[in-house]
Amino acid sequence: MVYQWYPGHMSKAKRQMQEDIKLIDVVIELVDARIPYSSKNPDIDKLAKNKSRILLLNKADMADPDATAEWKAYYEKKGYFVALVNSKAGKGVRNVHDVIQEACKEKIERDKKKGIMNRPIRAMIVGIPNVGKSTFINSFAGKACAKTGNKPGVTKGKQWIKLNKNVELLDTPGILWPKFEDQQVGMHIAFIGSINDNILQPTEMAYELCKFLQKNYSGMLHAKYDIEESEDGLTALERIAKKRACLLKGGVLDLEKASIFIMDDFRNTRIGRITLERPSMIEQKEREKKEKEVAIAKENAEARAKGLAEKAARQAAKEEALKAEKEALRLKYSGGIDYEALEREAYEAYAEYQKEEKPSSYDFDE
Ligand code: G4P
Repeated sequence: MVYQWYPGHMSKAKRQMQEDIKLIDVVIELVDARIPYSSKNPDIDKLAKNKSRILLLNKADMADPDATAEWKAYYEKKGYFVALVNSKAGKGVRNVHDVIQEACKEKIERDKKKGIMNRPIRAMIVGIPNVGKSTFINSFAGKACAKTGNKPGVTKGKQWIKLNKNVELLDTPGILWPKFEDQQVGMHIAFIGSINDNILQPTEMAYELCKFLQKNYSGMLHAKYDIEESEDGLTALERIAKKRACLLKGGVLDLEKASIFIMDDFRNTRIGRITLERPSMIEQKEREKKEKEVAIAKENAEARAKGLAEKAARQAAKEEALKAEKEALRLKYSGGIDYEALEREAYEAYAEYQKEEKPSSYDFDE
């Protein structure tokens, strides 16, 4: 199955974000803790260059806590300030205030040195659709928030939510789009339900999910559906369909029906807290990508070197031929070939031959 998704407003949203980012000090980026790699758009790294960066692993309540801890360490190593959040229940949300202060420490110090005191930090929320941006903003801003309105000249048309005396939040989040660099990214976004289900095949998704779970969360399908696990996704899907009596006319298994409720169970955390990707998987992928790039670069360099060598050889041969031709012309026009001398040499050689060797009846024709 090929996963594709091209929102038409993509480039307009990007332009808008480029403008908005100029106004802010810190970018608060939300990712889904179940797919912290696939739900993160790498383009934001370029867009938010030179800004403080906070990464929120949202929906942490749905993800595997061990994997979430790994992802926190992974992104911290990459220079982000990271926090775990459950925006729906408001868990970890208040902590984000402290994280903002921490992330903007240098900026606050710089302001102090310039004599600017208590200028609020300006923040902006970004993330791909469905990651929980609105839920987080509502939870973070709470009921007590006050919209500060337009600020002529500087923030024309912008609405800011004053969270407290230290922080102002741009009220419209920046919408990023998932980056389908490989099919697995598309598949993971589909798994969590962020691509319209009408364009996907539920059986293929459920098949892939069952395969993944049996490999990485052994025992979970058994615990949830009381089936014997194997390595194969299709066998698991069939066993679940049978167990739940998903049947078509004539007793044929209704795999589509089974797939739809398996995906629904997964998306609502009824199978368990599951994270679909780990930093080690991504690091492996990045290594493979780099190796491939190096191999291609090497191949190109070799082909280029070979081409250059052939070109040089052709050039040398051409130069040699030209030189020979030039010499021939020079001899021709300078009378360089001394026919008389050649004749003389031949005569002398023959005379020498007659003198030293046996006499001959052959008369040399003078
Ligand atoms: P967006 O602005 O980024 O597009 O996302 P939005 O806030 O609309 O959230 C998308 C869905 O994710 C919502 O569910 C929301 O409740 C849920 N959600 C957001 N944050 C969390 C979280 O931390 N944990 C959990 N478990 N869910 C979260 P919905 O099904 O669209 O609506 P509803 O179920 O809230 O009615």
